[in-house]
Amino acid sequence: MSDITLQWPNKDLALRAVGALGYTWIDQNSNELGNAEVIRLSQRLPGRHSNALLIGDGFDALAGLDKACDILADKIRLVYIDPPFNTSADVQCYNDTMDRAMWLSMLRDRLVALQPHLADDASIWVHLDDSEVHRARFVMDEVFGEGAFVASVIWQKKDTRDSRAAFSNNHDTILVYAPSGPRKWKVSRNLLVKDTAHLENKDNDPRGPWSDAPFTAPGYRAAQQYSIKTPSGKVLRPPRGRSWYATEPTYLNLLADDRIWFPKNGSGSPRIKLFSEQLRGLVPFTVWGTSETGTNDSAKRHLMALFPDKPVFDTPKPEELLERIIHIASRPGELVVDLFGGSGTTAAVAHKMRRRWLLVERSVQTVSDFTLPRLFAVVSGADAGGVSSATNWKGGGSFEIAYAPPSYGKPLSKTELWGVKALHKQLQDCERLLSAG
Ligand SMILES: C[S@@+](CC[C@H](N)C(=O)[O-])C[C@H]1O[C@@H](n2cnc3c(N)ncnc32)[C@H](O)[C@@H]1O
Repeated sequence: MSDITLQWPNKDLALRAVGALGYTWIDQNSNELGNAEVIRLSQRLPGRHSNALLIGDGFDALAGLDKACDILADKIRLVYIDPPFNTSADVQCYNDTMDRAMWLSMLRDRLVALQPHLADDASIWVHLDDSEVHRARFVMDEVFGEGAFVASVIWQKKDTRDSRAAFSNNHDTILVYAPSGPRKWKVSRNLLVKDTAHLENKDNDPRGPWSDAPFTAPGYRAAQQYSIKTPSGKVLRPPRGRSWYATEPTYLNLLADDRIWFPKNGSGSPRIKLFSEQLRGLVPFTVWGTSETGTNDSAKRHLMALFPDKPVFDTPKPEELLERIIHIASRPGELVVDLFGGSGTTAAVAHKMRRRWLLVERSVQTVSDFTLPRLFAVVSGADAGGVSSATNWKGGGSFEIAYAPPSYGKPLSKTELWGVKALHKQLQDCERLLSAG
């Protein structure tokens, strides 16, 4: 560890959530996790194969899940968090003015709580603006080590100019860390797809559109000379002077995984299907523009189209931005976690991209107004916006929903609990609607 560190008041204490929205300092060693639990609101508790929406504080949710179920048995491949930036601005949906020391401990304690659940090739993406990003980088250096720093991505969040300000700030910063270090992590991260326009989904593959290439390789290789039977019944050998692209056992595995395509109505020579992740693509730049990754305003327009009768959520992130992050840092089936869920963008995109996800959001109101109805719209196929067409999303899948009460201090008051109960009812209504078709 570096001998230069950031100091803040009460750094040696831990920060725990109390009540609906508050925090309190406690002794690091008091280790009071006695109250940690999760209470299911859906039919089942989140399990090893579930996606899950947890209502509560991120730290409490992780502690409760750890104790009550095995959703974290598969390690986390990607963490994306977009916590309150601490801008002191007047934000409607959550508190964006925190004591700085508390904010720093809040970030540190939640990153530390995630650590034991991270996969070897995990990465952690923390989305911030200039209010705290320089201090957050110190915190991340301390938690993961300076050698874990991968990049700081500049995301252009708007393309309109504020003429009243000294500078019209139009970017956020996303700090990217990988505990295995950038060189090792690079091996498992995905490159950007060069050009997806030519990808097609000729056989409605649920994994999305693909391109294809001949299943042959140059030269004669004895282990790659065998007969392949096409769906129309033709028996093919490799063309003269060439071999099949892989040995027979590999071919059979690819065939079973629906990765082989026979053109000409099943009578043509085999071709290998290449999904966007498998196409040799581009190393990501660290500056991301609006044409590819959207803006805060485009994210708001998407939410307004989904919920025309609701006031708009303050700071949603565009699905295109999350699509890029999730694409780079994970593969289908892997677990993506967001501890500051907001309107649910991370979960919505992870779901459409066939990742597993765990999303935690503390505000019951936000879950009721945005997160829950949005995720139901994704599952039911009613959300045609965002990255739905890019991911060929038509609906499907499911998720569990549970409540993580504060693990420290007094339980929620009656009024606060009433909000959670109302949510239970809302969930049942959503489920009834879904099962009615
Ligand atoms: C900037 S917003 C996230 C926006 C989100 N990325 C989206 O696209 O909608 C931050 C969210 O974190 C939530 N939050 C704040 N503190 C939290 C905590 N300790 N645990 C869980 N959620 C928290 C807030 O209620 C707010 O909805």
